[in-house]
Amino acid sequence: MQRTKIKEILQSDKCDYQVNVKGWVRSFRNNQFIALNDGSCMGNLQVVIGLDADEQLIKGINNGVSISVDGMVIASQGKGQKVEIKADAVTILGECDPEKFPLQLKNRPSLEYLREIAHLRFRTNTFGAVFRVRHTLAYAIHKFFNDRGFVYLHTPIVTASDAEGAGEMFRVSTLPFDNPPRNEDGTINFKEDFFGRATNLTVSGQLEAELGAMAFSEVYTFGPTFRAENSNTARHLAEFWMIEPEVAFNDIYDNMDLAEDLLKFVISYALEHNREDLDFLATRLADEEKQKPMNERSEMGLIEKLEFVLNNKFERITYTEAIDILLDSTAYKKKKFQYDVKWGIDMQSEHERYLVEKHFKKPVIVTGYPKEIKAFYMRQNDDGKTVAAMDILAPGIGEIVGGSQREERLDKLTQRMEEMHIPTEEMYWYLDTRRFGGVPHAGFGLGFERMVLFVTGMTNIRDVIPFPRTPKNAEF
Ligand code: 4AD
Ligand code: MG
Repeated sequence: MQRTKIKEILQSDKCDYQVNVKGWVRSFRNNQFIALNDGSCMGNLQVVIGLDADEQLIKGINNGVSISVDGMVIASQGKGQKVEIKADAVTILGECDPEKFPLQLKNRPSLEYLREIAHLRFRTNTFGAVFRVRHTLAYAIHKFFNDRGFVYLHTPIVTASDAEGAGEMFRVSTLPFDNPPRNEDGTINFKEDFFGRATNLTVSGQLEAELGAMAFSEVYTFGPTFRAENSNTARHLAEFWMIEPEVAFNDIYDNMDLAEDLLKFVISYALEHNREDLDFLATRLADEEKQKPMNERSEMGLIEKLEFVLNNKFERITYTEAIDILLDSTAYKKKKFQYDVKWGIDMQSEHERYLVEKHFKKPVIVTGYPKEIKAFYMRQNDDGKTVAAMDILAPGIGEIVGGSQREERLDKLTQRMEEMHIPTEEMYWYLDTRRFGGVPHAGFGLGFERMVLFVTGMTNIRDVIPFPRTPKNAEF
């Protein structure tokens, strides 16, 4: 008999039909009631075994065991579910020794512990919900761009350029570490390397996306990016996924509109399609909040927060206004900030969070950052000091989007690259777009895991990517 997904059975009230279901046992009580989960949804299906069942079989059914069940869907006698399965035949597909199984669901395991057994954590309610939502968000992002006629461009993962100019790259090489070929001056001879030059894992697909935008008008990338920055925070990964739209003829204002529309679309899509998972995560978050002192608790629950973001326009301010707000704050006056505030600083997470969580209480788009703290490709404003950059700051997250209008004027771009020691000759291909039919254009990068954090209400970025890569950690 063909397998029916548990989600399908639980979603309908239909009774009195034969099915086959397969999944993993979440609990087994009174030698009679199995809670079975196949990952298709949050809910477990109750499987009822006859009292005359084989003793060996009963012994083998434990938390974690995988089974196949043939039986009849009937109206449930018990509370908590509309339907259940009266089993005719149960087969154990894969045993699971309860003494050795590291995932014991009885006392809710901590997120920290589950991170150590990330290969098994998908089988918990929390991670089931998180990764189903992650899937939906990825799908919604593709849908958003597809519906608007964007071309999905696959930009390279191995590259010779440093798109952000921040030097935080992982080298890709097949040269022997112990005895690399050297030039006469002692430096390593990358001409002998696999690609005939020094290469690294990409930090961003933007520069290549810009090339695509100069032909398709609207493109986006959605791929893994890598940063060898030694930030051991709850918001940073060394390997993360980024969505980078790039649009010809757009200016910074169009860019802000696009980003706001994208965020709102994917949030509403998740609310519509993953409500059960989000409700579970909302309860989880509410429980977690109860552990905190009163004054640190957030004012809104998860669902309320998501709906609030959907229903309110993002605040739009300039960097200069942001600095003035911070300087004017009691937090600043009472020296509550760890880092100093003055025009020109790269705002720290505490400053960004003050703006969104305390001052505006909603997402904020900050534009017009000082050029010194931003990448070479951003369009220079007429004041000579700032660039047409935009960061979107989200409550509980800080920066979720970073983008800009791009410098389309060849002379200004080359000058800025030279000032910032970016090799103009090697990047001839990037500059060519400005030489051959260049147009004003703009784009941004949305950190996918930060988006998942925001929507799921999880607090550590390591809990929203299946197998996190962070400094000193590449397990699994
Ligand atoms: O602000 P970033 O560095 O911008 C760029 O890479 C541009 N090339 C994007 C563009 O304009 N096409 O990164 C964009 C976003 C950040 O706002 C943040 O959400 C996320 O990527 N991000 C990270 N997420 C997790 N771990 C890290 N180490 C991250 N670094 C950036
Ligand atoms: Mg940024």
